[in-house]
Amino acid sequence: MIAPTGVNGMLTRDADLKLARAAARAGIAFTLSTVSNQRPDTVVREAGGRLWMQLYWFRDPAIAADVVRRADAAGYEALVFTSDANVFGHREWDKRSYRGPGQLTLRSVLDVARHPRWLLDVMWPRGLPRFVNVADFFPPEARSARAGVTRIPALFAPTIDWDTVAWLRERWPRRLLVKGILDPADVERAVRLGCDGVVLSNHGGRQLDCTVAALEVLPEIARAFGDRTTILVDGGIRRGSDIAKAVALGAHAVMVARATLYGVAAGGEAGASHALTILASELDRVLGQLGCRSLAELSPAMLREGEPTRRARP
Ligand SMILES: Cc1cc2nc3c(=O)[nH]c(=O)nc-3n(C[C@H](O)[C@H](O)[C@H](O)COP(=O)(O)O)c2cc1C
Repeated sequence: MIAPTGVNGMLTRDADLKLARAAARAGIAFTLSTVSNQRPDTVVREAGGRLWMQLYWFRDPAIAADVVRRADAAGYEALVFTSDANVFGHREWDKRSYRGPGQLTLRSVLDVARHPRWLLDVMWPRGLPRFVNVADFFPPEARSARAGVTRIPALFAPTIDWDTVAWLRERWPRRLLVKGILDPADVERAVRLGCDGVVLSNHGGRQLDCTVAALEVLPEIARAFGDRTTILVDGGIRRGSDIAKAVALGAHAVMVARATLYGVAAGGEAGASHALTILASELDRVLGQLGCRSLAELSPAMLREGEPTRRARP
């Protein structure tokens, strides 16, 4: 499935729709971010396919209630509650582009000016993409995509807990997944609260950059919970062989974010489709090379750990 990513409209115009259409064509699910630039019902109308909705929890609880209501009314298959970004990562690489809240550095302004085609594509005819699902609840200075990095982190509620998940379970009628889990004890809590699955993820290393990778905890969690809940994993899926490795270690499915973002940024809808085609054909080849007729035949034994490297004595 395609993982949720926000502010896609800054990559190319209507990127959320282009990604959703590419996913629909490939027969996989697309997850729309709370901070996307399209509303859930617009994506149903303009792209269709299998749609999941991602939820961030902001200080104003009315936002979650509104997102849940809209996604439900639009018939979304699943709700993905992101649990690992409510205290925002200290993203130094993002900050280098700003001299103050919402104000780009001269270097960034010149960089934008050097890309008029991109600017026209993103800005025309509606101006800067907006956070349409949340903008009405945000202060005016935080509504456009340019404000995202510097203004929005302060609007996240740092206080989410398992009561938040229980609240969602009561209100969301279809599949509920918690994204951003890395600890078996949290999988247990999610299962006990009636969630249908978890997305093992460290948010692509964009949050706590020294945390474990999802793939490292996958085998233990798959052994303990693989037959009790659906286990998805994301982070660094760039090749078909990465999908094979995740499934071999016990994932039921993977999510991809940057691979398809690069595709849509480089080539629009065709680019996103091309990224998915590359992943699918690589996966097919790897399965063939391993002598597997289907994903179900992949097993952990195919990923044998190497001998620890021994240093030669000086
Ligand atoms: C530009 C960007 C925006 C993202 N926005 C969101 C988001 O809105 N919600 C969310 O749950 N995860 C978001 N993520 C995290 C991804 O869903 C995913 O967990 C992470 O990027 C790891 O997958 P990848 O290595 O395939 O990119 C974002 C990631 C990127 C790169």
